[in-house]
Amino acid sequence: MKQILDILKKSSDYVSGEKLGEQLSVSRAAVWKEIQKLRKEGYEIEAVSNKGYRLLGGDMVYNKRALEEGMETKRMGRSVHFYKEVSTTNDCIRTLALEGCEEGTLAVAEKQTAGRGRRGKAWKSPMGTGIWMSLLLRPHIQPAEAPMLTLLGGLAVADAIEEETGLKAGIKWPNDILINGKKAVGILTEMDCEISQVNFVILGIGINVNTKTFPEELDGIATSLLLESGKTFSRRYLVQAIMKKLENYYDIFLQAGSFAPLIGEYRKRCITMGKEVCVTGKESFTAMAMDVTPEGELVVKRLDNGKEEVVFSGEVSIRGVMENGK
Ligand code: BTN
Repeated sequence: MKQILDILKKSSDYVSGEKLGEQLSVSRAAVWKEIQKLRKEGYEIEAVSNKGYRLLGGDMVYNKRALEEGMETKRMGRSVHFYKEVSTTNDCIRTLALEGCEEGTLAVAEKQTAGRGRRGKAWKSPMGTGIWMSLLLRPHIQPAEAPMLTLLGGLAVADAIEEETGLKAGIKWPNDILINGKKAVGILTEMDCEISQVNFVILGIGINVNTKTFPEELDGIATSLLLESGKTFSRRYLVQAIMKKLENYYDIFLQAGSFAPLIGEYRKRCITMGKEVCVTGKESFTAMAMDVTPEGELVVKRLDNGKEEVVFSGEVSIRGVMENGK
């Protein structure tokens, strides 16, 4: 019963069960039942005898309905699958994709029990503090072009964070987002493909939003939007802003058939260039990061022999950009 929610949203004061019942031509018991349903969806509704009901925590409401209602996009995030607790949203989206779900379907979790990061690392995803979400894309591209989507995701998230919070968000190639030198966002892009065709891409985005503390081993490495600004942010507004940015950049990417129109913006945001980096892959070496190509590779100049090499995101880990070199 969406009307109850609409009435409560519009009213800054209590609305009695009787009044709600009258307006919707239902009994007070039916109103109470609906209030219980809304509470289960995550809405905080105060009930005070002789006064009625009042909606609390407006901006902080984080659930399927609230996310979908404020989504200002055509495809991205129009259909949200919301989980209180799940292993990893990337797997949820994989299952949904294999069942034929539409491009733009978004899985969002309050908590992940087996959140994963790049190169087999775990991604801590505690209850209620961060954004743990995965988006389904079905681009008609070759598998070799997928790294461009990794860059695109990073750019969209960095832009949205800066717009919503005022914090300066830098991208550590390919798509870690750093604030004041510490990592606040990680993106894990996974792909299902044939030799010459991508079936679907999963953009898994993890953002430490209102996290107050991190385990000791992440000291000086990880941060959150709250720790960097002293402010608490609405995860809902952030998700909606990210979806809007992503849709815009994705449309530009599809129309051009390349990342070329966006590479300028990406370079401006990328803090890796001009820094000494340690490339760890099949071979490990130290190099100067020179450029990022429109295809998404990092161009580096080796310090040992002065030769330029192109580095692919899936293959290596780059160290040396964060303050403490981690
Ligand atoms: C990294 O920096 O290593 C990437 C971290 C990606 C974390 C996100 S949280 C949502 C999605 N589900 C996961 O298990 N991982 C990604």
